[in-house]
Amino acid sequence: MSNNKYSRRRFLTQSGLGLVAFAGMPNFIQAMEGMHGMPKLTPNKANVNFKPDVEFDLFCRSASVSILPGQQTQVQQYSALLKKGPQNTIVDIAGSYLGPLINLQKGQKVRINLYNKLTEPTVTHWHGLHVPANMDGHPQYTIDPGEILVYEFEVLNRAGMNIYHPHPHELTAKQVYHGLAGALFVRDEEEAQLELPAGEFEIPIVIQDRRFDEQNQLVYAHSMHDRMAGFYGDRVLVNGKPDFKIDVASRAYRLRVLNGSTARIYKLGWDDGTPLTIIGVDGGLLEQPETKPYVMLAPGERLDVWADFSGRSEGSQLVMRSLSFSGVLPKMVGRMGGMMHGHSLAVGSDYPIFTVRVIKKVSDSPKLPAQLSKINWHPLSATANPDKPIPIAISESPMAMLLNGRPYAFNDIQDFERIKVNTIQLMEIFHAHGGGHGKAAVSGEEHNVETQGGRMGMGHKAGGMGMMGGLGMMGGMGMMTMAHPIHLHGQSFQIVSRSVGVEQETDYATVKDGFIESGLKDTVLVMPGEKVRIIKPFQDFKGLFMYHCHNLEHEDMGMMRDFLIE
Ligand code: C2O
Ligand code: CU
Ligand code: CU
Repeated sequence: MSNNKYSRRRFLTQSGLGLVAFAGMPNFIQAMEGMHGMPKLTPNKANVNFKPDVEFDLFCRSASVSILPGQQTQVQQYSALLKKGPQNTIVDIAGSYLGPLINLQKGQKVRINLYNKLTEPTVTHWHGLHVPANMDGHPQYTIDPGEILVYEFEVLNRAGMNIYHPHPHELTAKQVYHGLAGALFVRDEEEAQLELPAGEFEIPIVIQDRRFDEQNQLVYAHSMHDRMAGFYGDRVLVNGKPDFKIDVASRAYRLRVLNGSTARIYKLGWDDGTPLTIIGVDGGLLEQPETKPYVMLAPGERLDVWADFSGRSEGSQLVMRSLSFSGVLPKMVGRMGGMMHGHSLAVGSDYPIFTVRVIKKVSDSPKLPAQLSKINWHPLSATANPDKPIPIAISESPMAMLLNGRPYAFNDIQDFERIKVNTIQLMEIFHAHGGGHGKAAVSGEEHNVETQGGRMGMGHKAGGMGMMGGLGMMGGMGMMTMAHPIHLHGQSFQIVSRSVGVEQETDYATVKDGFIESGLKDTVLVMPGEKVRIIKPFQDFKGLFMYHCHNLEHEDMGMMRDFLIE
């Protein structure tokens, strides 16, 4: 970056002249809405040559369920009907609006018939699974009410907890919020040999936050504030239940935790200060267990927790809480949110998530294995681009949440978004406006990322004004920068490094011991001012694979892009 460009951007930022660009805002938004025209495809049908080991129907429909005492709540819900395969492939969670647990084995061939019984379009994505592009639930495969979409794939993943959820363009957050989500477990030999706690000793914990009106109906507002910061409920549900409790024996359990909230970030910790023993994350088991004082869990992330209650007395209780932390929301928005809702569950405050009650004393318990798995790490030297990471630039403004300077648009692939199949890539996720963290902006410009402002005639190209010249002035003033859980479809990735600017160090100290880098991930929480380098393989499948913010309100605002693997 030449000094010249830099000072120009600085000038615009500091003088507030950048705000002039906002005069053109209505146009800008209109243009954004016209740009994502998704093709309407004929839904994929069953292939007679595909011989499934497992086949089930998966229905999306409206339903009413009891969540709070009194009146039932209208939700949208997945349900499944097994047609072929082991009986435990589909396990309903009794009384929950969540979809059934899906259990698959590595190597199985699976056919899923998705029935859209809603009154709006939908499509289902298998978050975490490595499947062909046309089986991944990309929004271009969205089906209309009454249509059926057939998925056929082989389970290539190692053992792990994945998620299935809708992915229709601009409707993802709303459909997930109204209940469409479920956990999908893959099992394999490596995991089976460990004889980890199973059956009643393996407990799924899906954490979500929701807001109800006086009639017990879900409230999903869409104010500008809710879109910018994400939508936050005022109560926590686990597996679809308020005030969730589990009754346990005094032995070890395996808790399979998933943050299924649209925006809320948790800092999980036991109330008595017992450290958390982590045995796995998004992409399956770690190599060795890790002990953490607390763990950060952002939307879309998963945790495999070894919870050993042996030694605890009958009648004792333990509470999993979200502990206090700071810095994930823009300061101004945080205050606005407090003012607007009188938040009883402010982001980053301390509140309970679920309670464990020891109701039975038993004498033996399985032992925590010292060695859990073998991970196939890719060294930097194995990447196609060790010196030139593919940028994932986060930009935030009151009007647009973007990646690499652009909102989502179908068939809008920039050069650096084209990736050769069967390569391993170094990627760098960073805040484009820098927030005093000039290095990040440099990376973006190296790749000559074109700004939305440039395309809309609001500003200039990256080479002119810096990539956030048009939109980053708020970030430059330190008002907008916030945390984003960035998710990449397809194979999981490894985290190589994270670094944060000096200005953010105080807030960062409240979360930094809660990140786990020793496992494979598909979603990574990127804090304000933070820069995260990852190494990700793009093997086996060509086609469109998305990358986006898993704050689902941000995703629906356009903070989502495609990589074209070719
Ligand atoms: Cu869980 Cu593209 O998302
Ligand atoms: Cu995904
Ligand atoms: Cu985001």
